[in-house]
Amino acid sequence: MCGIVGYVGTNNAVPYLLEGLSKLEYRGYDSAGIAVNVNQQLQIFKAKGRLKNLETILDTSLSSVVGIGHTRWATHGAPSDVNAHPHANESQTIAVIHNGIIENYMEIKEWLTHDKHVSFKSETDSEVIAHLIDYYYEGDLLDAVYKAVDRMEGAYAIGVIAKDEPNRLVAVRKDSPLIVGLGENENFIASDIPALLKYTRNMLLIENDEFVDLTKDEVKIYNSLKQPVKRDIYEVTWDIDSAEKEGFEHFTLKEIFEQPKGVKETILRRLNAKDEIVLEGVHLTKEILEGINKVYIVACGTAYHAGLVGRRAIEQFAKIPVECDVASEFRYRDPFVDEHTLFIAVSQSGETLDTLQSLREAKRKGARVLSIVNVVGSSVARESDDLLYTWAGPEIGVASTKAYTTQLTAFYLLALFMGQLNGKLSDARYHEVIKELKLMPEKIERVLAKSPEIQKLAASQFNNEKVFFMGRGIDCDLAYEGSLKLKEISYINSFAIAAGELKHGTIALIEDDTFIVALASQSNLYDKMVSNIKEVKARGAHVFAIAKEGSEQLEKTADEVFYVPNTMDELVSILAVIPTQLLAYYVSALRGNDVDKPRNLAKSVTVE
Ligand code: G6P
Repeated sequence: MCGIVGYVGTNNAVPYLLEGLSKLEYRGYDSAGIAVNVNQQLQIFKAKGRLKNLETILDTSLSSVVGIGHTRWATHGAPSDVNAHPHANESQTIAVIHNGIIENYMEIKEWLTHDKHVSFKSETDSEVIAHLIDYYYEGDLLDAVYKAVDRMEGAYAIGVIAKDEPNRLVAVRKDSPLIVGLGENENFIASDIPALLKYTRNMLLIENDEFVDLTKDEVKIYNSLKQPVKRDIYEVTWDIDSAEKEGFEHFTLKEIFEQPKGVKETILRRLNAKDEIVLEGVHLTKEILEGINKVYIVACGTAYHAGLVGRRAIEQFAKIPVECDVASEFRYRDPFVDEHTLFIAVSQSGETLDTLQSLREAKRKGARVLSIVNVVGSSVARESDDLLYTWAGPEIGVASTKAYTTQLTAFYLLALFMGQLNGKLSDARYHEVIKELKLMPEKIERVLAKSPEIQKLAASQFNNEKVFFMGRGIDCDLAYEGSLKLKEISYINSFAIAAGELKHGTIALIEDDTFIVALASQSNLYDKMVSNIKEVKARGAHVFAIAKEGSEQLEKTADEVFYVPNTMDELVSILAVIPTQLLAYYVSALRGNDVDKPRNLAKSVTVE
């Protein structure tokens, strides 16, 4: 989704803006632009397409001590130069960048057009913001932004500069991410930490309905009543390298290879010397858990797929019934949620709008809200009663990989923790699972060491347009995730199915050389999977099976078998998903796609 960045200081803002925007590219965008104030004249440059298109139209002598920049992911109006941000009022005295959606923009636009005779240039909802601020502007930008925001409904993170205030940057947020970076003689705004990490580690996390007034020397935060707000500095501890490729060709590949580290961090930070699980942000007690009769897991995309595995883990270890739903469905179906429900939101970014709104809906209905989130201080994190961070580090590739495996890890910890708390899990079983869980980082390393096997397979299949993923039990959940990964970055129309459902229709599609990824990691379902593999083989399919070591008999049935280290059926998901991630990656790279920034996709979906 759109990314915003802003600078006010003593240096030339332009390189800061471009660098910041390049770090926000991962969010997904289709046009970009900047606005600066040169000798009390606002100058705006915008270009459809990648950042390099913007760079080519920039005047190299351009210099300004204040500026705003934007990467746009089109919602209202096609990707084009004119729809790109920043937007300005007619006399170009106010320039605005916006991430989010102004829901009542039509009403405001009509009022401005008919009553105030304002003419609009773009089809965007965002342009109304510039005209509205101009309408209210009487020499104090912050004041005008307050008045304009008062008329706006929807979600926004907005950055504004004014021609007549060349040393000031004003920003405001509601439901779209916004952070402030504190420098020396310079301050910044951005949608996300990586955009600013090159310049500062000291951040202020801006909350909903807060306004920020920035100059080079000072950052003031105000609430909606214009009262000053104090905010502690959040010091970013992870390294700039985490947001760099470090020799990998793509972020996606680097992040796949970072999974041992992410999983290790997620586990080890939660285990004490006696191997007891200590979940700092989770305040569930035995009494609270006794009052819970249902768990609802809600998320989008890959996080939803992690939820599917989480459902099995909680049912298995804590014996509490679990429902799992995609957030865009949950929100609108008046779900059975009450004060006896534990609602679990799963989100890498913590900013996905449907997930956030589902969380609010569940809260309204009285549920206790626990979230599994990667981005520290994000909206989902802040609005939850209980919080379990995944320690994956920043995920830049749009296709989620390390966030997924750390979400699975977090679910296992949570399920074990709940099982111990409510007495449904014996000590012996608990320690058996924990012991195995601690081995996962090393076992992931072993899977990754075999990536050349997947590279070879990808080289033989990357042009195959008919791809199916199938599995049973947890493997079915993994099939959904494997297929999504392939779709996202290779653009192949792949399909995932519960293997037992094949015969009820889908088998009609199997023909010579259909490529089937068959996940067969579950011991109790192994024989059933072998039968399913035989069924598709008999119809000409090419089968790539993923199974645990010790399943060598599969070689007689499948064309290729990838073995993951032996482990418990409950935990194997963390290992078995990795070959599917690698497959999607290598196929995408071989097809010459933009792996890290696949077409039409956004990293963080902050609109409905
Ligand atoms: C987008 C991303 C996916 C992600 C989904 C949910 O669609 O491209 O990779 O799984 O949003 O995002 P979240 O940040 O809530 O996990």
